Amino acid sequence: MCGIVAYVGNKDVGPVLIEGLKRLEYRGYDSSGICIAGKNGLFIRKAAGRISVLESILDEDKTIPASHVGMAHTRWATHGAPTECNAHPHLDDKKRIAIVHNGIIENYSAIRQFLTAKGHTFVSDTDTESLAGLIGHFYEGDLAKAVQLALHEIRGTYGLAVMSASEPEVLVVARRGSPLIIGVGKDEYIVASDAAAVVEHTTQVIYLNDNEMAVITPKGFRTMTIDDVPVTKDVTAVEFSLEQIELGGYQHFMLKEIFEQPEAIANCLRGRVDRHEGRVVLGGIAQYSRDIVRARRIIITACGTAWHAGLVGEFLFEELAKIPTEVEYASEFRYRNPIVEDGTIVIAISQSGETADTLAALREAKDRGALSLGVVNVVGSTIARETDAGVYLHVGPEVGVASTKAFCGQIVVEVLLALSIARRKYMSQTVLQEFLTALDRIPEQMRHILEQSELIRQVTTQYVKRENWLFLGRGFNYPVALEGALKLKEISYIHAEGLPAAEMKHGPIALINPGMPAVFIATRGSQYEKLLGNIQEVKARGGKIIAVASEGDDHITKVADHVFTVPDTIEPLQPLLTVLPLQLLAYHAAMARGCNVDKPRNLAKSVTVE
Ligand code: G6P
Repeated sequence: MCGIVAYVGNKDVGPVLIEGLKRLEYRGYDSSGICIAGKNGLFIRKAAGRISVLESILDEDKTIPASHVGMAHTRWATHGAPTECNAHPHLDDKKRIAIVHNGIIENYSAIRQFLTAKGHTFVSDTDTESLAGLIGHFYEGDLAKAVQLALHEIRGTYGLAVMSASEPEVLVVARRGSPLIIGVGKDEYIVASDAAAVVEHTTQVIYLNDNEMAVITPKGFRTMTIDDVPVTKDVTAVEFSLEQIELGGYQHFMLKEIFEQPEAIANCLRGRVDRHEGRVVLGGIAQYSRDIVRARRIIITACGTAWHAGLVGEFLFEELAKIPTEVEYASEFRYRNPIVEDGTIVIAISQSGETADTLAALREAKDRGALSLGVVNVVGSTIARETDAGVYLHVGPEVGVASTKAFCGQIVVEVLLALSIARRKYMSQTVLQEFLTALDRIPEQMRHILEQSELIRQVTTQYVKRENWLFLGRGFNYPVALEGALKLKEISYIHAEGLPAAEMKHGPIALINPGMPAVFIATRGSQYEKLLGNIQEVKARGGKIIAVASEGDDHITKVADHVFTVPDTIEPLQPLLTVLPLQLLAYHAAMARGCNVDKPRNLAKSVTVE
């Protein structure tokens, strides 16, 4: 997804910006560009493809001005192809104003028509260029004023940074619907759409809210609304360190994050389970605990992997907390006139806390009167701030585009939430204690499962030429089947379908041909026998069975071609263990096929457009 880095300070701005762009690479992008304020105007370079292309253009260019003010952008194409011309920064037609922009200007064609009628010309296919033109149209020597006037005319979303050739020491930034934070260092300011680009410089940040902007110069900064009402912002500390977002010896972020899960889950649980008193402590929702316990219905809304975690949540809230629950794709929820009755709680699940559809669904639910809770990883993100209350995952930054540790963190938070409701309603202290003991053991059990990485690699490598895979599970492991298939698709580009195992006979069974890999999540539990029947259906048609099974299950080793084992736990907690072999399977498949694991084609870490 698009990324912004901008800098005003005492360092040479070029290297600072390139370094910042690299920190944003993980979000996904297809082109990049840079703008540096010089004595003779704005110095702009852009390139399609990797940031390294832009970097080598800059390395060879002897005309880069020495400067301490500039901005840069990684673009993920929405309007117009990923070309050099469409890359940001974009200029007004007099080339006095430059802008980098995340988000979408919805009324860009009306603005283009308006400006074209006044004789302006446009060179790119982007919506952003219309905003550059509009700011240029209003510009009379005061950049902040021109930005305010232009922002009043546009519909849509933005996180943006703007510079003017006539005011080389001024950077104007603004936000509506697309995140933007300002790092406040010693005599320097670094603005970015993501904390990852800031933490190298400072951990002290200001989060801009929607419809707020800032004017930054080497002497200081002012914050105000886009209506020019001054606002005072608190400077807060970002939670993670630079080291956390680096590779730490692993070949890929995804692998690192898979292996980090025992630690991440321990962190997620830390301070939330009072073993002594035998209770769950969730400070972030304490204020609303009475409403939550009395809830008559829960709606979970999310996208992608977070939606799969939500599906586990549906099972958890119904089974443990006995509250009718449904899980809905945020993109569907937001547009379908949903019924939100009294006593409805909406839970938005999101790793990034910035996914546009999830945010819109959350706002829709709030408008309709629901109490809103966030299950979010990124502290201070928009969803975290806009929900009434919430529980952070605390699993640390997730950089790999394919989500792994966040999925497990989301499930743990849902388990804790369901248990805290259940205990206040129907659950005995003894049963709660069983869950808490089982949760305590999860990190160690995860470590044990991860030791099978090499076995999983060897098995996976045998099947990587097969272009179609099935992932099948039942009950709590049905969402895991969906997640296993999604992981494989995302990073290895193998077509995979995840299904509740019994559904197979209603159609997908027609796909099975000799040698086709079918991955069954076949742990001991209430539906084990039934699942064995489904395995036989695939075997009878020549399919190859890869089973994720319980340790010590001798029967499955006779039925399946390959077995990855997981230790026993309480059935509702099984997804926390059974998903691990599937994450590793996807990783090794992608490696064997030579794919770019951390930056898969066409995908973005955080989808901040519709
Ligand atoms: C993108 C990512 C997925 C992620 C989804 C939801 O599509 O590629 O990995 O699951 O967004 O992201 P969120 O940050 O809301 O959890």
